[in-house]
Amino acid sequence: MSLDREDILNHVDGVVRIIKLVFAVVLLSPFIFYLLTKVDFEHSEEVVEVVETPLIENGIDLASGLIVDDNYELVNGTCSACHSIDLVTQNRATREGWKDLIVWMQQTQKLWDLGDNEALILDYLEKNYAPKQQGRRAPLKDIEWYEL
Ligand code: HEC
Repeated sequence: MSLDREDILNHVDGVVRIIKLVFAVVLLSPFIFYLLTKVDFEHSEEVVEVVETPLIENGIDLASGLIVDDNYELVNGTCSACHSIDLVTQNRATREGWKDLIVWMQQTQKLWDLGDNEALILDYLEKNYAPKQQGRRAPLKDIEWYEL
C-alpha cells in the first residue's frame, strides 16, 4: 500500500514537471519568436541599404548614365521627369546653351521655374557636359628634322 502510494506520488511529480516544462516553453516562445524576427528584420534592412546605394563605376552613375559630381542627383531628379535622362547625357553645350534649352523647355514644354536649383543644375551641366574641345591639334613636339 505504501509502495503504491509512493508510486502515485512519483507519477504525479513527473506530470507536474512536464506541465512546468510546457509552461516554460509557452512563456518563452514569444521571446524566442521576437529574437528570430528581430534577426530577420536586421537582415532585410541590410539588403535594402545595399539596393539603395547607387552603383557608380568610373565616376558614372550606372542607373542614369550621369557623371557623378555635385548635384548630379538633383539633375537626375529634375531632368528625367519628362523624358529620358539620355537627352542630357547625349548632349553637350555651353552654360548659355543649356540655359537657352531650359528657357525653351519652359516656354514650349511646360518646364516649371527651377528657382534656386537652376544655378546648381547649370553649374553641373557647364562643368560636366560642356562642348568637347575641337579644332587645332596639339602642336608637335620633339621632332627630328632631317637635313635637306
Ligand atoms: C516639364 C517636362 C520637362 C522637364 C522637367 C525637362 N524637360 Fe527636357 N525636354 C522636354 C520635352 C517635352 C522635350 C522634347 C522631347 C523630344 O523632342 O522628344 C525636351 C527636350 C530636351 C532636350 C533635347 C533638346 C533637343 O534639342 O532635342 C534636352 C537636351 C533636354 N530636354 C534637357 C533637359 C534638362 C537638362 C532638363 C533638366 C533641367 C530637362 N530637360 C527637364 C521636357 C522637359
